[in-house]
Amino acid sequence: MLKIGALVSGGGTNLQAIIDNIENGSINAEIVTVVSNKSKAYALERAEKHGIDAVFISKKEAGSQENYEDKLIEHFKSKGAELILMAGFMSILSERFVNAFENRIMNIHPALIPSFCGEGYYGLKVHEEALKKGVKVTGATVHFVTKEADAGPIIIQKAVEVKDDDTAEVLQKRVMEEAEWVIYPEAVRLFAENKLKIENNIVRRIDR
Ligand code: GRF
Repeated sequence: MLKIGALVSGGGTNLQAIIDNIENGSINAEIVTVVSNKSKAYALERAEKHGIDAVFISKKEAGSQENYEDKLIEHFKSKGAELILMAGFMSILSERFVNAFENRIMNIHPALIPSFCGEGYYGLKVHEEALKKGVKVTGATVHFVTKEADAGPIIIQKAVEVKDDDTAEVLQKRVMEEAEWVIYPEAVRLFAENKLKIENNIVRRIDR
């Protein structure tokens, strides 16, 4: 069974969606550890509630980005993690970490990449910029992680309507409910079933 490690920083609603899909049998996998870079992340509590190993690894204590990434690599390897999920992880990882799990790290971004993405585009800012631009649809993207922020091969995208009276908060919630919590578990399920193949940076589904 596929062993998953997760990286979180915040509320962990995407993590919850994946836990729920594992528990209801839709995804054949096990989350072996959840790692946060914030000691108080509610995502850690969510993991604990489901009997999942949950740890805080401090970047400050690690002293440098390199040491921090080495600690993460060592931790995930010691748990036997085969797929790493960034689920609201608010920190960028370098080539060092990415190379240790090549084509085995996924991220969810709350916009239709390549719109509203890249360095600095996280949290509410993504939705504020979408509203500023006046786009009529936005959405979410699950992609494999490469060393460039939000630029790795795209696995699944789902569009979400933008309404005239949306605030960034309202739009963020709709994108989560209608897109993120649907496509992230779906991408993980496909990976667990060996149905994703990367060819020249393009993800192909091999079940259709
Ligand atoms: C989500 O909007 C996700 O797309 C982004 O960070 C947010 C995390 O939310 N990367 P949660 O911690 O999963 O609730």
